[in-house]
Amino acid sequence: MHNTTPPTGAATAQARGALQIKDAVKSFGANRAVDGVSFVAEASKITGLIGPNGAGKTTLFNAIAGEGPIDSGSITLDGTRIDELKPHRVFSNGLARTFQIPRPFGKMSVLENVMLVPERQAGEKFWNSWLRPGLVARQERENLEKARSIIEFCGLTPVERQLAGAISGGQQKLVELARALMADPKIILLDEPGAGVNPALLDTIVDRIVALNKQGITFLIIEHNMDLVMSLCDRIVVMATGQVIAEGDAATIIADTRVVDAYLGGAHA
Ligand SMILES: Nc1ncnc2c1ncn2[C@@H]1O[C@H](COP(=O)(O)OP(=O)(O)OP(=O)(O)O)[C@@H](O)[C@H]1O
Ligand SMILES: [Mg+2]
Repeated sequence: MHNTTPPTGAATAQARGALQIKDAVKSFGANRAVDGVSFVAEASKITGLIGPNGAGKTTLFNAIAGEGPIDSGSITLDGTRIDELKPHRVFSNGLARTFQIPRPFGKMSVLENVMLVPERQAGEKFWNSWLRPGLVARQERENLEKARSIIEFCGLTPVERQLAGAISGGQQKLVELARALMADPKIILLDEPGAGVNPALLDTIVDRIVALNKQGITFLIIEHNMDLVMSLCDRIVVMATGQVIAEGDAATIIADTRVVDAYLGGAHA
């Protein structure tokens, strides 16, 4: 049996992690990939971000995470502007993301990948290693324990010694989730957590998202698997050609002809 209790310090019940996007624009040359997007991912809810290929979803995620800032508009996390911050500052403000294509360090073990997540450790100040070796050793031990319990929570204990490049794509997505959890995030952005994942592993991923959300972590999830979106998300935002064309609960989205038209008109099957 896996430990299904989220091990993160985010286990507080208060609503945190509200993400507000206002009039966001991001162009690549003449292509307005994100063209005036506004929506809110409510604190402690699961918001789905859907839309056909090329709609601008990943571009928006990158902008939110500080990788390729928006040209105009604003992005706030719990009322604090984050749209001008570098990725590591966005991360330390409590926002973690996973990538559409997992990016593990393939030649390192799963455990090493999870432990790599930067923390404000005393050991980073090199003199601490001489002056306060006990402190550094204790932090390293705590970091290892935390990584191990997160790995267990993500169902990765059986592969923790394997090279991250040698495990399945679905397991790599769980490694990304584990890495995100090391930061005790308020909000996690998942880019297509279900893509290329076998059904059994997908159940694990869904279970873990639900368990973490119950502890108050906010989620914003890009996903093409409609069953997954409809069952998991409290609210759904639909993008097409850089703009939000619909938003609401699953029933509202299913009934919206603009959504159907966007998918039929788009490249995505
Ligand atoms: N780095 C880039 N340079 C130039 N154009 C880009 C770049 N990244 C994305 N684009 C363009 O921006 C638009 C939006 O792409 P994006 O990857 O955000 O779509 P998406 O909604 O995530 O699609 P998918 O569902 O296929 O992942 C597309 O027209 C794409 O070609
Ligand atoms: Mg994408």
